[in-house]
Amino acid sequence: MAIISSKQPQKEPKKRRGAAEKGGNYSVKEKALLEATASEEEGNNSKQEEKLRPQRLTEYIGQKDVKEVLEIALAAAKSRQEPLDHLLLYGPPGLGKTTMALILAQEMGVNCKITTAPALERPRDIVGLLVNLQPGDILFIDEIHRLSKITEEILYPAMEDFRIDITIGKGQSARIRSIPIQRFTLVGATTKVGALTSPLRDRFGLIQRLRFYEIEELSQIVKRTAQLLQTEISSEGATEIARRSRGTPRIANRLLKRVRDYAEVKSLGKITQALACEALELFNVDPCGLDWTDRRILSIMIENFNGGPVGLEAIAAATGEDAQTIEEVYEPYLLQIGYLKRTHRGRVATAAAWKHLGYPHPEKQLSLWQ
Ligand code: ADE
Repeated sequence: MAIISSKQPQKEPKKRRGAAEKGGNYSVKEKALLEATASEEEGNNSKQEEKLRPQRLTEYIGQKDVKEVLEIALAAAKSRQEPLDHLLLYGPPGLGKTTMALILAQEMGVNCKITTAPALERPRDIVGLLVNLQPGDILFIDEIHRLSKITEEILYPAMEDFRIDITIGKGQSARIRSIPIQRFTLVGATTKVGALTSPLRDRFGLIQRLRFYEIEELSQIVKRTAQLLQTEISSEGATEIARRSRGTPRIANRLLKRVRDYAEVKSLGKITQALACEALELFNVDPCGLDWTDRRILSIMIENFNGGPVGLEAIAAATGEDAQTIEEVYEPYLLQIGYLKRTHRGRVATAAAWKHLGYPHPEKQLSLWQ
């Protein structure tokens, strides 16, 4: 299977941590150096990540319900010798949407072309991809909720009738020409399923939500990755990393690599629970998996807004984080563990969040006097 990636530079939610931690005070030289190492690191990381990804559905740990649905869809498509139905995967970042698309391509024996909505700005971007598809290929579009209207309109007949309609000429002499394309499968991925237009959403035959992983599932993923990285780890060590991974395999694998670095540099050998705790404390990842930014979001809500309700934009302004990043990257896990609530008047830090961060909760204190 060939993986063809056409991800172009784009406005992405800001990366976790970084400049904010240093107050954003980098010199031009420092910035250039950081950018160079970051892109080099990203290149190396993505190559290494490719090696760590499961290749087949049987190797994929977790997401039992989604896997069952896809196993049936795969078997049916194969027996009819047809491409898979178009599939929409949604859920927080890092849960394995791209991995799933690559596995489906592998299982179907077809190519997977990977792109992201912000890279499909002009009609010719999407048309170029569609006309070059081979029969049955998978076209993976990440962040599909960010497609431009014009690109989305080109996709409708492509998804439904495997044709693209091109307007030739202008004004009264304009003509629409239909060009047939190969039958293909569109796999769309999004963190914001509610932001998709209904005509686009309705064109997907399968819509599946990826959920946060259980600690046991993440522990298995950590052990599998450790084996691929030829790193010795105890079951308790893997569970400690899993517990601090916010239900997310991408984070679990990242933390494993940081703990492995720590073990190697300190010549401590096998990763045990004690070693994992020591290393993750150093990297500022607390026992619930919250990092510096999570704790900063919650503590600013508590200190500046008495725990809320407070609007997303106000949190963004006070923390210096981008609102989209807070909403799509940080909030889902804080909601999941019950540290944050969304109300119609804004976000609220729950009593559990106050307790976790060591603040006395005003209502709990009141009740002591009642
Ligand atoms: N690596 C990352 N995600 C994985 C998963 N769901 N199963 C196995 N290995 C993984």
